[in-house]
Amino acid sequence: MPILQCSNLSKTYASGETAVHALRGITVSFEQGEFCAVRGPSGSGKSTLLHILGGLEYPTSGKVYYQGEDLFAYNDNQLSILRRRRFGFVFQAYNLVQELTAYENILLPVLLDKRKPDEKYISMLIELLGIGDRLHHLPSALSGGQQQRVAIARALANRPSILFADEPTGNLDGKTGREVLSLLKYVSKEMGVTLILVTHDLNIAEQAERILTLEDGRISYDSCTQGV
Ligand SMILES: Nc1ncnc2c1ncn2[C@@H]1O[C@H](COP(=O)(O)OP(=O)(O)OP(=O)(O)O)[C@@H](O)[C@H]1O
Ligand SMILES: [Mg+2]
Repeated sequence: MPILQCSNLSKTYASGETAVHALRGITVSFEQGEFCAVRGPSGSGKSTLLHILGGLEYPTSGKVYYQGEDLFAYNDNQLSILRRRRFGFVFQAYNLVQELTAYENILLPVLLDKRKPDEKYISMLIELLGIGDRLHHLPSALSGGQQQRVAIARALANRPSILFADEPTGNLDGKTGREVLSLLKYVSKEMGVTLILVTHDLNIAEQAERILTLEDGRISYDSCTQGV
């Protein structure tokens, strides 16, 4: 069974008098552990798709199944628990809590879940991401690359099965961006985490096992079914 599936997803936003059709019938599935890049022009619906697949936003119609379970059949509370335990999110703007140190940010999803942190696993993440010497700094005292590494550690703190990343290297210089991308690829392979990554950058997309291209709210190309 695929880890994540969606069928006939549509999303329409009301924008004044007019309606914006951000997604127009998306059907796609993802296997456990795969690395899939999502490309497409600005406004083609990439972020909207990622948010709906990750249960951050409701579709106008259509379904999302996580391990065969209908994501939107859960109530808000059940959905946020599932998101916190099974999904990790990494955004272009890092989205760290500015008042908390790097270490507190990393532990946040575990503490919100009222669980005792698995110190060994968290230390392993910190070492893997090379942020051990920045743990007690606030995000404002970290470089962009360091903030994104902290955000990746936070996204992985609860051992998610899917990592959603929306332009995770979009604010980073080329070299730092490549380092962050190789870390994402490495953790996804080492931990068997499914990685769904939105990017404008063809060089980045080409490192994925699979490329999906969106155009005007539809999948115009899927390397999985259409060949490379
Ligand atoms: N909250 C919203 N309200 C109204 N329209 C929205 C909203 N969010 C997205 N849209 C519209 O939906 C369409 C798809 O937006 P989306 O953010 O998914 O595109 P994108 O492919 O991620 O673009 P980009 O590459 O610029 O990030 C766009 O036309 C956008 O203006
Ligand atoms: Mg976007």
